[in-house]
Formats: sequence, C-alpha cells, structure tokens
Amino acid sequence: MSEGIESILTETRVFPPFPNLVPDAAISGMDAYHVLCQEAERSPDDFWARMARENLNWTTPFAQVLDESKAPFYRWFADGEMNVSANCLDKHLNTPTADKTAIIFESDDGQVSTITYKQLYQRVCQFANGLKSLGHKAGDRAIIYLPMSIEAVVAMQACARLGIIHSVVFGGFSSKSLHERAVDVGATLVITADEQVRSGKSIPLKSAVDEALAMGGCEAVRHVIVYNRTGGPVEWNERLDLWMHDVSANQPEECAPVPLNAEHPLFILYTSGSTGKPKGVQHATAGFLLWALLTVKWTFDSKDTDVFWCTADVGWVTGHTYIAYGPLAAGLTQVVFEGVPTYPNVGRFWEMIQRHKVTVFYTAPTAIRSLSKAADSSLEFHPREYDLSSLRIIGSVGEPINPDAWMWYYTNVGRERCPVLDTWWQTETGGHMITPLPGVTPLKPGSCTLPLPGITAAVVDEAGDVVGPGKGGFLVIQRPWPAMIRTIWGDPDRFVKSYFPPELKGAYLAGDGAQRDADGYFWIMGRIDDVLNVSGHRLGTMEVESALVAHALVAEAAVVGRPDATTGEAVVAFVVLKRSLPEGEEAVMIARQLRDWVAKEIGPIAKPKEIRFGENLPKTRSGKIMRRLLRVVAKGEAITQDVSTLENPAILDQMSQSH
Ligand code: WT7
Repeated sequence: MSEGIESILTETRVFPPFPNLVPDAAISGMDAYHVLCQEAERSPDDFWARMARENLNWTTPFAQVLDESKAPFYRWFADGEMNVSANCLDKHLNTPTADKTAIIFESDDGQVSTITYKQLYQRVCQFANGLKSLGHKAGDRAIIYLPMSIEAVVAMQACARLGIIHSVVFGGFSSKSLHERAVDVGATLVITADEQVRSGKSIPLKSAVDEALAMGGCEAVRHVIVYNRTGGPVEWNERLDLWMHDVSANQPEECAPVPLNAEHPLFILYTSGSTGKPKGVQHATAGFLLWALLTVKWTFDSKDTDVFWCTADVGWVTGHTYIAYGPLAAGLTQVVFEGVPTYPNVGRFWEMIQRHKVTVFYTAPTAIRSLSKAADSSLEFHPREYDLSSLRIIGSVGEPINPDAWMWYYTNVGRERCPVLDTWWQTETGGHMITPLPGVTPLKPGSCTLPLPGITAAVVDEAGDVVGPGKGGFLVIQRPWPAMIRTIWGDPDRFVKSYFPPELKGAYLAGDGAQRDADGYFWIMGRIDDVLNVSGHRLGTMEVESALVAHALVAEAAVVGRPDATTGEAVVAFVVLKRSLPEGEEAVMIARQLRDWVAKEIGPIAKPKEIRFGENLPKTRSGKIMRRLLRVVAKGEAITQDVSTLENPAILDQMSQSH
C-alpha cells in the first residue's frame, strides 16, 4: 500500500478552476459547494429528499427518505414508485429534447449512425413490448451480452422499463464467466449478438452463449434474443433463439413504463472481490438513477449543447451510469463507440473528438498512458495533430492516474484549458464519490480531490478512528448514500462481511487505501485487499488462482500484482505443476498454454502477463503462502526481509525466473 506514495505526496502543482467555467457551472465556486455540503451535513434526509424530488419524476411520491431499520441493508425513498426508463426517455418527449440526437454511434469501421430521443423512445418501447409479449416481466433476470451499440442501450432501457433486472456481462468475458453469472442470477432471458467487431475482426458472441447454456444449470432461460450485428454464422436453436429485430417487429411504438418501487433492483453487475467468485452487486431503481443524473450534472457540469463521450463499455459500471442511464436522464447527446482506441490507428480517439465535436470526454488512465506512449512514437497521430478545441472537460476513471499521465492528458488533450477530473468511485458506489468539480475545485495532479456534497468520505485506522492529514488508512464512507450497493445478489452475509466490518462502526469500507493532505484532498493509494486493477478492470487474485488450478497440469498457484507502466498493474502467476519443473522451450510452451487457459476460463483481461514455475510456493511452516514475498519477487526486486521462518527459502530463487 505504501508504494509510490512518496512521489505522489511531493506533488505541489495546483491548477485553479478555469474562470470561464465558473460562472454558469452547476455548482459555481467553492462557497456554493460548501453550502451544499453543509445542507447535506445538517440534515441528510432533507438534502436527499430535495434532490430526489427535484431530479426524478415519481409516479408515487415518497414520504420516507432513508430507512435504516435493517442497516446495513439501507433503503431509500422506499415508499415511492417510479420508472428509470421513463426518467430517461419519456420525460423528454414533449420538450425540444425529443428531436435532439441522443446517441451518435460510431462503429469499429467508422460508420456513423444517429438516433434522436423520440426514436430511441420508440425503439425501447417496441423492444419492451416484444419482451412483454414473450412473457418476460418485472423481477425476472436478464443477461445482456452485447457489443457496444445502440442496441445495448435499448436492451438495458427496455429491461428497466419493465422492471426486468439486467445483468450485463462484458463481451470480453468467456463462456465460463457468462455461465457462472447466468446461473447465479437465475436468468430467464439472454440478450446477445451474433458477433462483435473490434479492430476489424469479428468475434463470436452467440456461440459463447450456446456454450454457456450447454454447461447446464441455466434451464430457466426461455429465450436467447440475438442482435444481428454482422450476419456472421450462428447455430440456431429453434426452441430458444429469436432475432432482436423480429422481437421488435410490428410492436407498438409506445409501451407504458411499469411503476416500480424505488428499491426494486435495477441491475446486478458482477465485480471481483478478494475471495471467492465475483460478487453480484445489486443496485436499486431510484437511488441509482438519482446519483447517475446528479453526478452528470455536477461533475460533468452538463449543458444542453454538450456532446458527451464516455469511452467505457456497458459491461462495466461506468457504462451503466455514464452511458446507459445518466446522460439520457440529463438529455445529453452522447457518443457510443464500438471499437478500440488503437484502430485503425492510435489517433482514433482524437479523430473522433474532432469529428463529433465532443465537449466532455471521459476515459481511463490506462488508455491515456498507452496513447501517450503511442503518440510519442507515431507523431502523425499525436493529439496535437487534431482539432480538439470543442473539448471543455476531460475526465479519468477506474484506477489511480499518476501525475505524469495527468500532465500529459492535461497538456496534450485538454490543451491546458480543460480541467482533468480524476473521479474516484466503484461498482458498489453507483456513481462518482470523490472528484473535482469544474467550477469549484483547484486541481492537483494525482488527487481525486474532494467528496461530492452528501458523501461523507474519510480515512480511518483499523479501529475505525479518523486519521490525521498525511497518515495512510482505509477509505470509508461514513453515512449511507442513495446510489450505494444494496446487497450482493443471493449472498447477504458476504455483503455485510465485505463492506461493513464491525470495527468500522457502521462505515462502508471501500477496499482502497488512502490519505488526505493538509487541504483535505484525498489521494488514493490502491487496493488494500487481494483485488488487482489491470487496465482499470478489477480482478480477484483468487479468481485467477482458481482458474489456474482447474488446469490438469497445475498443482498449486499463487497470483499477485506487479506495477505496470501501461496497465497500472499486471498479473504475475507463480505455478507449481503436477509434473517436474519445466525448463527452456517447454516452460515457455506450458506458460503459453496456461495463459490461454486463463483467457478461456475468465477472459483475456485475466491473462497472466508472467508465469513463473517452481517446485513449491514459499510458505510459512504453518503452510501459509507468503504473498508478500511473491510480490517482491514479481517486481524483480531483491528480498531484504528475513526469510528464515519460511519452510523452503530456496524456492524464492527458483521463482525469480520468468516465462
Ligand atoms: C476500484 C473500483 C469507478 C468505476 C470503474 C471501476 C479503483 C477507481 C479511481 C480513481 C484511484 C480508482 C479503486 C476502486 N479506482 N477510480 N479515480 N483513483 N483509484 O470500478 O471496477 O468497481 O473498481 O477502482 O481501487 O476501489 P470498479
């Protein structure tokens, strides 16, 4: 947890807010920010009630704000009813926004199509009517396994319209991961595509669904609805399969949104924890949407004229909050991109900002780091070669952004006239928690700065006591907030254990280490648990270990993270085989086999960057694997600790060879 802290905390640069962004900002000036914070502090219930009344349309108004009677299973606005899709689409119908472009879609090969709010409303209604006619209804669970597309947004919105709880699975996850999630949610419906297209290549999706269903345990699935993206080959199961366009065909262009209890689950999204299989993070209808909309307004200071572009995939929470829901609730025009930042060349993002006149751009540090490296070597595609003058705000999310990457982004993309918003949040928090605001916050490269109004972030020690400036500790949120995780689907005990350890006095434990500086700014130091962050994707070391030991050749495996200049962290696996220690070519071959195996078991993002073989793992005499030492070995550093308590100290030398 202490790695790199020194370099961050010696950062002294401060960039005051740009004067042109302050006057008409949603929160204008530090005083206005403090007024809101104090309002929330004085009476959290009144503050959140005001926000929920002013920002959401209710079919049944709520009287109750926060229900703490079953803490930490908090409930918000629980006697109210509303519909998320109605709050994203219907509310714009009789306004000028109806004819405004909702989505500018750009495909992998650069074709652009657009859809207005009115048209999106009709598409969502037709598909929802189709789902309804097939018997799918509120409370059912749907797996969505789709590429980035207008259809993905339509599918999510149609589910929300009917109260079908969606669980989106990132298209890069394997059939095995898909299967695990479909079983865990008890899905009755799967929405997928024939194929997805990335970097000019078609990758099958429907066949992964077929494989997942063939693994058994998903007998509840009644329909597999397929979006025809490429016309590529698919096997057709007459009993289950339907084309998405057939499901929508001839359906009325209106579909009454189902009024849902504020606490009705809106979606379940799987994310990695420190132990066991991924957790199904469950979010609620009203609280989630309130925060999605409020943070789009506050953090991105949204304006009617904005062209908003969040580069995340809808398979991650960022794509839920800042593609499928928030920007629509705010009535923004947004870019949805199918492809990758490096195809057909590394200038793709900059070219798209120029082409679509993007005003608010939101991406991940890993993209910034790899594009900055690429730009330095292929000057032709350097951001300065493009007209990026439309940009007003640039944001970052998913992992710590190191000061160097921050400065590169600020200088070359923002041209020193756009604030860099380093937004800290998590799948569990539903939306931004600690972030600069364009009209308020002086920026410090590498700091996510200050909490949003209503968010009681703190750094505490093991006993749950707040630590002073400059002291490291656990990042917690002291009071509940509307968009917080409600539970882990099907595992309430794990929810309590993971996020509300008894010694923290009821605070929510984020799982990150952090410290505050003398100005109260937060500096995130990375995870305190066995969760890795590879290219902004969360991965449990245990998940990768389980995948490895499921291979016929593997006896034992230990997985750790190692700092990586591009991906933030990289996966390093220490493996003991059931056979003798492999050497030379053979070791390289087995390592490749194991890497491919992990990709197949979990998904390519989990592939170990390095595999190291040993006859054993470094263990204490009581048999505990010494991961701390393995982390040192993975970094290629010399071991300075006393290893005499190890059962097998010699093993460390063996393990310092990489394959
Ligand atoms: C973890 C959450 C936030 C949505 C996408 C990732 C790390 C996230 C930052 C940031 C430093 C960050 C944390 C957090 N993280 N944003 N601005 N600075 N670290 O969501 O997959 O749930 O991962 O990502 O470690 O706990 P996620």
